[in-house]
Amino acid sequence: TTVEWEAASYDMGGHDTYMHKEIHEQADAVDRVLRGRIDDRFSTVHLGGLNLDAREARRIRRVKILGCGTSYHAGMIGAQMIEELARIPADAEPASEFRYRNAVVDPDTLYVAVSQSGETYDVLAAVQELKRKGARVLGVVNVVGSAIAREADGGIYVHAGPEVCVVSTKCFTNTCVAFALLALHLGRVRDLSVRDGKRIIEGLRRLPEQISEIMEQEEEVKKLAEQFAEARSMLFIGRVRGYPVAREASLKLKEVSYIHAEAYPASELKHGPLALIEPALPTVAIVPDDDLLEKNRAAMEEIKARSGRILAVAHQEQAKADHTIVVPKNEDELDPILMGIPLQLLAYHTALTLGRDIDKPRNLAKSVTVE
Ligand code: G6P
Repeated sequence: TTVEWEAASYDMGGHDTYMHKEIHEQADAVDRVLRGRIDDRFSTVHLGGLNLDAREARRIRRVKILGCGTSYHAGMIGAQMIEELARIPADAEPASEFRYRNAVVDPDTLYVAVSQSGETYDVLAAVQELKRKGARVLGVVNVVGSAIAREADGGIYVHAGPEVCVVSTKCFTNTCVAFALLALHLGRVRDLSVRDGKRIIEGLRRLPEQISEIMEQEEEVKKLAEQFAEARSMLFIGRVRGYPVAREASLKLKEVSYIHAEAYPASELKHGPLALIEPALPTVAIVPDDDLLEKNRAAMEEIKARSGRILAVAHQEQAKADHTIVVPKNEDELDPILMGIPLQLLAYHTALTLGRDIDKPRNLAKSVTVE
């Protein structure tokens, strides 16, 4: 069975495509994932469906996140948040890889399955296999009552609302926010201070308004997209928090525009990709204003020295870049949630310039429910 939204039944609200509509719904969507969950008194969050008490949460030795496509990328961001805020070793892996490599199932590991639809076969099969082996599995899912949501021991609904466009935008953002909530919750039952809890909560509350600020830059991003639409290939680079953002932005561009795109950790440039740099291969650099700023500037310098063109997504104008999209700064740990959003607009406007079938890219399905 395939999950198909009754596309015709959703109002387009003046947007030409669902992708455009869903990109613009993100401030409201983030509001929904936060609603009713913040506990200011204890600087934490309540996640009603988690089914994980404080004692169990303290016993977790490792977190393994499983998903596919965009959900896998949200899981990569989630893993970093869990490591940073809860200080639990965490990583994300494509669910299909996990299934096929006969992975060690460890009782002290918390497994988290991520899926917009809740029906992706590779993710569902991984959950079923984990459950058979006695593991504890949580779901981070958008569609209420979906197969993965039912199969999991507990979880978090991301409340992004129906997502019709095949490529995921608002659900990605909301999933990242859901992971921030999970990380904050796990952190606060472990070692995260009240002060840091407060700081993250304040950061979360700023997100909707900051997303609206990003939307105001659409005209500017559109002009950039018209230039980049001529590229045959694009490189996306980022470091640590910026790397999964680069991965997701690269995926988004290739899905909707069919332009080849590749993401690399900025530090790996010198181990291969620098050979590709020339004026015809633009680079998008994710440059957060954090302790790696100077390192990222150095990477941009390497690219400029080889006459590459650079579009930076950063918290301040980057002199080394040809263009900078300035994104509002949040707390360091939450910055990845915002930094990819202008690049959703870039992918959208590039695809529009090229006349692509934006809501239904060739060869892709919203939900892959077969092996
Ligand atoms: C398909 C879609 C992707 C999506 C992936 C995972 O490949 O085209 O956009 O990210 O499935 O879907 P899920 O519903 O599990 O998040």
